[in-house]
Amino acid sequence: MPKIGDIQLPDFPLLLAPMEDVSDPPFRALCKEQGADVVYTEFISSEGLIRDAAKSVMKLDIYEKERPVGIQIFGANLDSMLRSVEIVEKSNPDIIDINFGCPVKKVVSKGAGAGILKDIDLMVKLTDAMVKHTNLPITVKTRLGWDADSIKIVEVAERLQDVGCAAIAIHGRTRVQMYKGDADWAPIAQVKNNQRMHIPVFGNGDVNTPEAAVKMRDEYGLDGAMIGRASIGYPWFFNEVKHFIETGEHKAPPTMQERVEAARRHLQMAIDWKGEKLGVFETRRHYTNYFKGIPDFKEYRMKMVTSDESPDVFATFDAVLDKFGDYQFS
Ligand SMILES: Cc1cc2nc3c(=O)[nH]c(=O)nc-3n(C[C@H](O)[C@H](O)[C@H](O)COP(=O)(O)O)c2cc1C
Repeated sequence: MPKIGDIQLPDFPLLLAPMEDVSDPPFRALCKEQGADVVYTEFISSEGLIRDAAKSVMKLDIYEKERPVGIQIFGANLDSMLRSVEIVEKSNPDIIDINFGCPVKKVVSKGAGAGILKDIDLMVKLTDAMVKHTNLPITVKTRLGWDADSIKIVEVAERLQDVGCAAIAIHGRTRVQMYKGDADWAPIAQVKNNQRMHIPVFGNGDVNTPEAAVKMRDEYGLDGAMIGRASIGYPWFFNEVKHFIETGEHKAPPTMQERVEAARRHLQMAIDWKGEKLGVFETRRHYTNYFKGIPDFKEYRMKMVTSDESPDVFATFDAVLDKFGDYQFS
């Protein structure tokens, strides 16, 4: 069974992917309750952290109930990354993860995120220095390569392992692909099949059905699945995958009561964490998925995503239960 440093994980663990503006403490808590074995924060700028930018620092908040939790940081400057490691350590996470995969221009143009895939020596150097700078396990999340002509992920993963990286999660796309096309898990399987690899190799990209997770395990032989988009507004996905792995059968989807309860708790946790205004505002993006596919729901969805006061949102949840309590999800 895979281990990240001393953290023992179950067979084929499911990891909640780091997602900007999504993987915050309330969402991570819900995913954890629903079976995520490891959760990650969204990426946090090392430059922001060392400037003490309030927005970056707030992203360091973690709660006991979510452990094991990894804090993900990004950057391309050695000194800033090392100073960030010291700042991150104060939040006492279980893992520090390095983002070497973010494809967005503003990150890549500074040589960070997936930008570093153009400078593998620097990628290895940063990882090496960070491993030496902390006793926490350092993990890496990356992509297959910069573009289809420069995929060297087998060699890259081996070099990262050799400098002490404790686990690697690989998104089966290149930077150039961004999110287009299908994720290709075959190169990730090559990383795993490298006889010299002994750290866990987690697959990422398009695990959006329980069957896909089983395929990643059985046909590609990977050590676990990192799940992103399939969990947005649907934390039950982790449990559904686990249920399918254990029984070969699909778990019934959550009832309306369970969905309303999750939405309520999500909103309350968000308010407790970041205050009424931000809590109300930032939880909005999750409701669409919590209540997907219900006919004649538009009026309620609009109320949820336009109300500025939490009592109005909670009242809408009550109204949803009154009107749609018996709705059968398929
Ligand atoms: C809204 C959103 C935000 C993301 N933010 C991050 C991030 O902060 N750090 C990171 O490493 N990847 C980030 N990703 C990429 C995901 O972690 C993951 O690699 C990608 O979505 C593919 O997995 P999936 O098909 O399961 O979603 C983000 C993806 C989405 C959709």
